[in-house]
Amino acid sequence: MFSHAPVMINESIDSLMLNKSGAYLDCTFGLGGHSKEILKRLNSDGTLNSIDQDQTVIKYAKKIQDSRFKFQYSKFSEIGELFLNKKFDGILFDLGVSSLQLDDATRGFSFQKNGKLDMRMDQTNKVSALDWINNAKEKEIANIFYYLGEERKSRLFAKRIIEKRKNELIESTEELAEIAFAGKKYGNPKKHPATNIFRAIRIFINNELEEIKKALLASIDLLQDKGRLVVISFHSMEDRIVKNFLKGKLENIEFENSIKIIGKIIKPTQEEINLNPRSRSAVLRVGEKTNA
Ligand SMILES: C[S@@+](CC[C@H](N)C(=O)[O-])C[C@H]1O[C@@H](n2cnc3c(N)ncnc32)[C@H](O)[C@@H]1O
Repeated sequence: MFSHAPVMINESIDSLMLNKSGAYLDCTFGLGGHSKEILKRLNSDGTLNSIDQDQTVIKYAKKIQDSRFKFQYSKFSEIGELFLNKKFDGILFDLGVSSLQLDDATRGFSFQKNGKLDMRMDQTNKVSALDWINNAKEKEIANIFYYLGEERKSRLFAKRIIEKRKNELIESTEELAEIAFAGKKYGNPKKHPATNIFRAIRIFINNELEEIKKALLASIDLLQDKGRLVVISFHSMEDRIVKNFLKGKLENIEFENSIKIIGKIIKPTQEEINLNPRSRSAVLRVGEKTNA
């Protein structure tokens, strides 16, 4: 079984649920921590739709026997079409990977657990991390490491990957992590040298930044007047998109945003970080739709 502590559970749901009889959408069901809290607080006439692109969570969603709740296996970039004629009082995104994905070595997400490289949140997607790392051109690899991982040694790591590939496939998370480590000490002793490249590959394989942009844009039409948008991000690239969106700006995209920032950003308390170290980089932002 997988242990899982939902991040900023009270802060996020307090901001999301202004109407206990409302309709809510959880775009990142995961192990259902936030969804269950929404259901706990909902009146009998409220509803919750939850989605996730990971098929392995379907069995957890099925355990929730509640007529107010409906789960759909879907990508959140599809919410516009999925809920075409529906309006919500609140939409929640708890971005990133779940403990279910990270702690299962067979999903190939983590350099701390050796397993076959994969990193697909939706395992029906065609390209896995293994396919990509063994086929992409050196320049493309370096660019992904640099732009999506903010990795200073992007070119060096890409070069090492090409060297290693000449003799054998790079198949496991351990082999990939070793390419970044290469027996050397790295700038920050608290941070594994492969941290940035693993994150970059994960973001790339799951098309994460485009998914977020599409879903945020779709949420404008899906929210009722005074409906809330609540987003928990785990790294600066995600958070920048959310922040810019709430200010009405998205790179190369023209749009009219009627979702306005509410309050200041919220971060987990030290107590939560002590209990759940994975929450340490989380940032919560809240927006509210205004039709006025
Ligand atoms: C941090 S976890 C959510 C944890 C959840 N809030 C809980 O309390 O258990 C993020 C989840 O979002 C899902 N996810 C990430 N990107 C997605 C996307 N584009 N479409 C649908 N689900 C996505 C992942 O598969 C993962 O299960």
